[in-house]
Amino acid sequence: MGGSMRVVVTGAAGFIGQMVVRALAARDMLRLDGTERRIAAILATDIAEAPLHALAATHRRIHALPGTLDDPAVLNRIVADAPDLIIHLAAVVSGQAEADWDLGMAVNLRGTLALIEACRRMGRPPVVVFASSVAVFSCADNDTITEDTLPAPRSSYGTQKLMGELALRDASRRGFLKARSLRFPTISVRPGAPNRAASSFASGIIREPLAGQPAALPVPRDLRLHLASPGKALEYTLQACGLTQDALGGETTLTLPGISVTVGGMIDTLAQLAGPAAAAHITSQPDTGIAAIVASWPGKIRCPRAAALGFTPNTGIAELIEEHRNRMNSAA
Ligand SMILES: NC(=O)c1ccc[n+]([C@@H]2O[C@H](COP(=O)([O-])OP(=O)(O)OC[C@H]3O[C@@H](n4cnc5c(N)ncnc54)[C@H](O)[C@@H]3O)[C@@H](O)[C@H]2O)c1
Repeated sequence: MGGSMRVVVTGAAGFIGQMVVRALAARDMLRLDGTERRIAAILATDIAEAPLHALAATHRRIHALPGTLDDPAVLNRIVADAPDLIIHLAAVVSGQAEADWDLGMAVNLRGTLALIEACRRMGRPPVVVFASSVAVFSCADNDTITEDTLPAPRSSYGTQKLMGELALRDASRRGFLKARSLRFPTISVRPGAPNRAASSFASGIIREPLAGQPAALPVPRDLRLHLASPGKALEYTLQACGLTQDALGGETTLTLPGISVTVGGMIDTLAQLAGPAAAAHITSQPDTGIAAIVASWPGKIRCPRAAALGFTPNTGIAELIEEHRNRMNSAA
C-alpha cells in the first residue's frame, strides 16, 4: 500500500464530474499508478458555484473550489493542494465549442495548458486523467476505424481535445505529470436536460420517451454511434487512474471501446424494452448542422490496445437503457 493521496477534479459540477467525485467520496481506497492509496481529500473545482457547493456538502472529504482555470487564484490553490491525481473534466461541449470558438479555445485548450503549467510548479508529477473524445477522429462516412487511425477532427471541439492530448503527452515525456488522455465514446443515456453537445440526441431518444416526453431525431436511422454508458465512463476513469505509466509505453492517449449501434437499432431496442408506445414519442426532425458533425464521427472503433489494458465495453444497447432506468428508479 502506498499511503494517502489528494485528488483534484476539474469540471466537478458537470455530469461526469459529479459521478466521479461522488464515487471517490464513497470509497476509501483507489489504485493510483499501480499502487492502492487511501483517498485523503478531494478538491472539486468548477465555474458553476451552486452545484459545486451542494456536492461538497455531501461528504466531509470534498472541498469546493469555485472558479475557472484562467484564474491564478484557482491555479495557485490547486498547486498548493499538491495533488497526487488530477481528473481534468472541465470543458465546453461540442455544439457550444462550434458556436463560440473563443470560448472553446479558452476552456478546452488554454484551460488544459494552464493546468499543465500548474503541474510544472508542483513538487511531484501528479497523474492527470484527461477527458478527451472520439470526436478527435473523422472519417468519410460514419465508417469503421481503429484506434491507430490518424485523428483529423472536423470540429473545433475535437481539434481542441486533440491539441490537449498532444500537450499532455509531451508534458508526460518531460516528467511534469503522468498523463492518461481518454477518448471517451459518446456517453448515453445521460440524465437531465438536453445539452449543447451535437450528440445530445443520442441520450434524448432514449431518455425522453422513457419519461413519456417527445424526442426529436435530427439524424438518419442508419447513422452508427460508438457509445458507452455513464457507469462505464466512470469505470473507465477510475481504471485509468490505476494503470502504471510504464503500461502506456509513452503513448498517453487511449481510445476507449464502445458499443457500435445504429440509431434505428437503439429505437428498436427501446421499443422491445419499453413498448412501441415509448418509441412512438420519437419524431424525425432532420438537422443538417448536427447531421454533418455527427456523420463525420466514426460508427465503430476497434480498440485492441485499450482492450489489452483491461478496458471492456458495455454488453449492448439494452445495458445502456437498463442502467438509465435503474438510475431513474433509484432517484425517484
Ligand atoms: N458526455 C459525453 O458524451 C462525453 C464524451 C466524450 C468526452 N466528454 C468529456 O468529458 C468531460 C465531462 O463531460 P460532461 O458530459 O460531464 O460535461 P459537462 O458539461 O456536464 O461538464 C463540464 C463541466 O465543466 C465546467 N466548466 C465549463 N467551463 C469551465 C471553466 N472555464 N472553468 C471551469 N469549469 C468549467 C462546467 O461548468 C461543467 O460543470 C468533458 O471534458 C467532455 O468534453 C464527454
